[in-house]
Amino acid sequence: MLEIKARDGLGRLGKLRINNKTIETPTIMPVLHPNPEKQTIPIDKIKKLTDVIITNSYIIYSNPRLKNTAEEKGIHKLIGFDKIIVTDSGSFQLSLYGSIDVDPLEIVQFQDRIGVDVGTILDIPTAPYVDREKAERDLEETLRRSKSAIELKEKNNYKMLLNGTIQGSTYMDLRRKSAEVMGKLNFDIYPIGAVVPLMENYHYKTVVDIILTSKEYLPTNKPIHLFGCGHPMLFALSVLLGCDLFDSAAYALYAKDDRYLTEHGTYHLTDLKDLSNFPCNCPICNEYSPRELFNMDKRNREQLLAEHNLYVTFEEINRIKESIKEGSLWELVELRCRSHPKLLEAYRQALKYIEFIEKFDPITKKSAFFYSGYESMFRPEVIRHKKRIHRIKFDKIYLSTVSRDVNKPYSENLNNLPSDVDILIKDDVFGLIPLNIDTIYPLSQNEIPELYDIEREHNKKFVEEFINKYKDKIMDIKTYNYYTSYYNSKENKNKVNKDVLRIDRMLQYQYGFKILDEGIIKNIVVKRSKNTGRIRNVLVIKDENEKEVLFTLRSHDNLLIPAKEGAKLLHKKIPFPKYRVVVDKSVQEFAKKGKSVYAKFVIDCDEELRPYEEVLVVNEEDELMGYGTTILNGRELMEFNYGVAVDMRGGVD
Ligand code: GUN
Ligand code: ZN
Repeated sequence: MLEIKARDGLGRLGKLRINNKTIETPTIMPVLHPNPEKQTIPIDKIKKLTDVIITNSYIIYSNPRLKNTAEEKGIHKLIGFDKIIVTDSGSFQLSLYGSIDVDPLEIVQFQDRIGVDVGTILDIPTAPYVDREKAERDLEETLRRSKSAIELKEKNNYKMLLNGTIQGSTYMDLRRKSAEVMGKLNFDIYPIGAVVPLMENYHYKTVVDIILTSKEYLPTNKPIHLFGCGHPMLFALSVLLGCDLFDSAAYALYAKDDRYLTEHGTYHLTDLKDLSNFPCNCPICNEYSPRELFNMDKRNREQLLAEHNLYVTFEEINRIKESIKEGSLWELVELRCRSHPKLLEAYRQALKYIEFIEKFDPITKKSAFFYSGYESMFRPEVIRHKKRIHRIKFDKIYLSTVSRDVNKPYSENLNNLPSDVDILIKDDVFGLIPLNIDTIYPLSQNEIPELYDIEREHNKKFVEEFINKYKDKIMDIKTYNYYTSYYNSKENKNKVNKDVLRIDRMLQYQYGFKILDEGIIKNIVVKRSKNTGRIRNVLVIKDENEKEVLFTLRSHDNLLIPAKEGAKLLHKKIPFPKYRVVVDKSVQEFAKKGKSVYAKFVIDCDEELRPYEEVLVVNEEDELMGYGTTILNGRELMEFNYGVAVDMRGGVD
């Protein structure tokens, strides 16, 4: 029921189907009191902001009047909300009072009976840092309840979806076990539980460990809900780490305390009362001055503050969605993490999991890579380049440096002479940038400020290791000058076609294999644009007066996008299963016509694929059916069974 439409980091912009209603994720569910008289903001105003709310089934269950109405008319009538209603189970009350008066299966049955869209098991939220025996015992009980809840759901064919909460306190091996066991139980949504006390105490770093441990061992195709996270300051980082759903009681709880939320922290109304305007443009902040609100009676003030708090909460969600679309979520996170040192610490903790995160991070983005501090050195775009540079089979290497005033791409702004030597430029962030591939994202699509000396030390080890690995191929300046002067002489000038050499290196870097062999190289024609002078197309000469396009260089990232002949060439040169998505027989005819490949029909693939790579769609006999862009990575291609997997460019008949 989850389909990924766009992504960045582990973050995803998704379409989520719940009981025939579709919502866009990431999103936030405002927490409503089930008793309309106790709601801070009138339901009509909530309706305008959201398609999904969350309330508490245990409060309904424990109040005879609410229970009666819910059982007679259903929860949607009780709340006065006809879109998606999610309910919690009383677990939170359990964490507050130690025990509650309802049977774990009875509350699941009750949620289904009153027509809830997504219900929750009665999990045990174990507090942080309790002793291990308690954490283990609680988890065993939560897992027992989970199994019987799923059995109940399947036996009775519930229309209601079910939340299966991940517990395990602050023991990462228990969180892992929880994720592994729950992951096999076919819950519809996986909330991450018992993080509220950690967030209240600014232990964001531990929350990061919990989120990433859970993500690593949960199925990739299910939505993740971060239970109890309602402060907009925490959304960007949590989405980057793969959380899709949030709930907010914070908007109302903070308002009760005269606290004013912003996307980077909280103000008390007394600290704002002397400003002439609020630092916000929502309808409330436009209409009232801080002083007016300060002098207002408690009830009205609380409602208006809650409305503002909810506005900024949704505003931040919208900003996050936009940044996922344009591929700048990392930049937004790096900005947000400057709001509080504990958040920066949490971001740094997340970067320790970069090998895992990198597998999900798109290989290309619409917006440039911005360096915003030392943390940026550890981003997936950088880590990936430093691995993929070894995909190129270098023959002769010359290492060089350029001064800061030369603009990227260097290959367009340096006069390097013709030769068959690969020139690699030392780079403070990306380590080494081969001139022959330097137009590919993110090697020239980046902005890096002048760095501190200590930051410039960072890649020393990488460069040393590179030199060590390639020591037989690296030439000194004398040998390099000898080569260039040799190729620069009149009679030898045409011996190397620099453009073909460049395409050869770009293809190796993008696909990991040598695509242009000696046979085809002499028939390759590289076309440059008359306007920009940049390489646009790679063609192959078929016969005297016929050429066919193999690849087009996409302008914003300079990736080599195959045409049909290019796809055939890749298929011939790249060994199975690399760069392959294998589809079931039943959809072969669709694939051959270039129709989208749905995840359900993927039966095998290259497990190392990253999102947005150009892939070959084949059948089990490795016959080429078509080619396109994969939305999913290798692991997701196998785990998703809903939505589009490969956006096709064309079919091959
Ligand atoms: N709300 C906040 N934390 C939790 C939790 O751990 N479990 C449930 N069910 N609800 C919560
Ligand atoms: Zn406002």
